[in-house]
Amino acid sequence: MHTITSKISKISGSKYHEYKCPKKVKINNTLIKLAKKYLNNNISNPIILDGKNMQSTNILLTSDANITGKINIPEIDEETHDIHKNSELCNAYYGSLGSFINDKQNKETVKQTNFIFADYTGSVSGNYSENYYPMQDIHDVLKTTKSKKLVLGLTFCQRSRIPLKKSVRENMVDKIRKDFVKPCIKYCGYKIIKGGSYSYKREAEHNKKTQPMVFFGYVLKKTNKFKNTNIKFIQGKRLINNKNQRMYLGYDPNQ
Ligand SMILES: C[S@@+](CC[C@H](N)C(=O)[O-])C[C@H]1O[C@@H](n2cnc3c(N)ncnc32)[C@H](O)[C@@H]1O
Repeated sequence: MHTITSKISKISGSKYHEYKCPKKVKINNTLIKLAKKYLNNNISNPIILDGKNMQSTNILLTSDANITGKINIPEIDEETHDIHKNSELCNAYYGSLGSFINDKQNKETVKQTNFIFADYTGSVSGNYSENYYPMQDIHDVLKTTKSKKLVLGLTFCQRSRIPLKKSVRENMVDKIRKDFVKPCIKYCGYKIIKGGSYSYKREAEHNKKTQPMVFFGYVLKKTNKFKNTNIKFIQGKRLINNKNQRMYLGYDPNQ
């Protein structure tokens, strides 16, 4: 088991355009409903990705959830980060979610979190040139938190950069769930006790096409039942901060 401890450099990639998306309101509310029912409505040190409208923050703050600690928002886009910071509604962090999780200053926050909404805009396998590795982020947060039960929300676009064999599974949502998300959760010693997935598209101006996305909303419970040596991940070496580092990229469906 090899975990990245050094700070992952900031992502400079393409900008996220905030389109109206009523389905996104539903997604945010789904996570709060799960917290209400399975965390006794007690959310601790939430870590979320949020946009310029701070929709997730506003939905969280106007819900009747009991929130302990601040809402933590890592953000790679400087302009969006400034909006988060100036709002004074959250602990705004300029950098990637991966950097936030692995920043020593945030160790207590990550230990105490029981609510993570990694509302990614990219693919589950990440983007190597931009140092963006969702599976590594999920791995790191689940291995650090002391919460026995937590709510995990994830969104991905329905494509992958990892070359996948033309496998039995044609359905991308199925592939993301079975080859990436579920093995990662299991590997980290958690089991899914509630939740599911939901496909959606964001609505762009002038009916411009947007790519299909998928949301996973889960309640996880710590278990010591699984032997993580039985669950293999795709690992790769990536040059980060001038050092070759081993990353967890996902489960290898070809093995
Ligand atoms: C999809 S938007 C969040 C939307 C919001 N949760 C909502 O429901 O309206 C994702 C935001 O996170 C940022 N982002 C994407 N990937 C990130 C990463 N790995 N680390 C930090 N910020 C990221 C994007 O720049 C964008 O502002």
